[in-house]
Amino acid sequence: MVLEKLRELEELRKRLSSPDPEKAKRQHAKGKLLARERLEMLLDPGSFEEIQWLATTRSTLFGLDKKKVPGDGVIAGYGKVNGRPVYVFVQDFTVMGGSIGEAHAEKIVRTIELATKSGVPVIGIWDSGGARIQEGVASLHGVGRIMKAIVDASGVIPQISLVLGPAAGGAAYAPALMDFTVVVDNVTYLFVTGPEVVKEVTGEEIDFEGLGGARVHSQISGVAHFRAGSEEEAFSLTKKLLTYLPDNNEAPLPVINTSDPVDRVDKELDSIVPEDPMRSYDMRMVLEKVFDKGSLLEVHREWGQSIITAFARLGGIPVCIVASQPLIMSGAIDINASCKAARFVRFCDAFNLPIITFVDVPGYMPGTQQEHGGIIRHGAKMLYAYSEATSPKITVIVRKAYGGAYISMGSRSMGADIVFAWPTAEIAVMGAEAAVRILYRKQLARSPNPEEEKKKLVEEFKKTFLNPYRAAELGLVDDVIAPRETRQKLYRAVTILLKKREWRPPRKHGNIPL
Ligand code: HXC
Repeated sequence: MVLEKLRELEELRKRLSSPDPEKAKRQHAKGKLLARERLEMLLDPGSFEEIQWLATTRSTLFGLDKKKVPGDGVIAGYGKVNGRPVYVFVQDFTVMGGSIGEAHAEKIVRTIELATKSGVPVIGIWDSGGARIQEGVASLHGVGRIMKAIVDASGVIPQISLVLGPAAGGAAYAPALMDFTVVVDNVTYLFVTGPEVVKEVTGEEIDFEGLGGARVHSQISGVAHFRAGSEEEAFSLTKKLLTYLPDNNEAPLPVINTSDPVDRVDKELDSIVPEDPMRSYDMRMVLEKVFDKGSLLEVHREWGQSIITAFARLGGIPVCIVASQPLIMSGAIDINASCKAARFVRFCDAFNLPIITFVDVPGYMPGTQQEHGGIIRHGAKMLYAYSEATSPKITVIVRKAYGGAYISMGSRSMGADIVFAWPTAEIAVMGAEAAVRILYRKQLARSPNPEEEKKKLVEEFKKTFLNPYRAAELGLVDDVIAPRETRQKLYRAVTILLKKREWRPPRKHGNIPL
């Protein structure tokens, strides 16, 4: 009798781990791995424990009673990634296209809730046609519950999405609500409505790739934070990302040992900023020289590129970097760059990661396109994010720090704890040429030799404002440092600020500009 029952259990387990061979073949033919193959690639061998593997749909409509399978098209549970506990759910496209029915949704919600209670990250692998059509409002309710569960967990545990197939409708919004989204070339298709509906409603003809492929979301929409060339690469990126993240908002930062000395001096930094203020340079080079060797992990690398957002390590401590990139639009902040920086700062603040800002910014991006697109409300997000952040905030003014963009890039007025400036720093309302044009328009118009006079006035303006010393006199810069010293200075500032406490009066929540 007992043996028979054990055999029954065995049978059930076997059925669960053997997908429909025809559908499995189709999944592989699309260049996609099966759900269980994905789990194996993500988790430490033998570490996975499955939950609710027998849960299935209660619906009998539209022949669902004949289609239903244990697990309802999603595998959920917990395991380990490089020894660290995580919760995980993986949608199985071979079961009704990974569509989200009531039971499917319940499993995802439960996984997120358990992850929140356990205080460990949750990783979701999406491969789905969205809300299960046959279950009607029950599936819509399920999709809504997933979204709510993600929002409830937001800022408590890190949430990472890998989109490894289509993620349509409801399945598309869920990754957007999580903290990080990883996409894969020729595998990911994310959209609210697919090409067929688009054609029906708007007449526009577009294919899956052009509508919502990995490139589109990494380079144009900004939905994706990381783009990988293969599923394998996506999993190793996810594993790397996890190494920078604490388990939850109250957990200590994951500090590792490093052989890179914290007092390492890099003389090349002294000559990285060109003499000619009109010439650009790659801020990435600065970051690579300052932070622990090989530790830079860029987020949103292909989007909003005039600002770099990245994780890195300093003496083994994980930190967040927001840095102007003079190579792109001279580092001017546009709508995308502003949204990118604001969201990153909010993530880092939620998990107490120190935020280190490198400034070389001529201003917010001017122009009708930007103004009409809402650079005011989008730009305001950065001001909001920096102001509300209570994590350690350290700023290095490298070169230009002009106008509103100076304010928003982690200035003292935004609550920066320590502000360093290189001797090349220029802190002013605007650049010398523009300032002189406005201040001395009449004087220059009257002048018998306007060119020469303008040159003189520009020089005078530069001497007064385009240096770090005026700001230092006013206490807005704490220390003017040699570029070569940056690593050591930052390390000391980060370590003294790690236990920083800063309180705000209680409120329900603020109202971030959108
Ligand atoms: C039930 C679904 C399904 C769904 C796919 N399937 N999507 N079943 N509900 N939403 C089933 C198919 O019937 C098929 O079943 C199997 O999954 C594989 O689908 P195919 O179409 O054969 O695969 P493929 O050609 O790869 O196309 C995948 C796809 C397409 C692009 C995802 O299936 C599709 O467009 N589905 C609908 C997407 C959509 O509009 N979803 C929005 C739902 S509304 P068989 O038995 O033949 O294998 C929503 C509400 C929330 O999500 C909105 C929030 C804003």
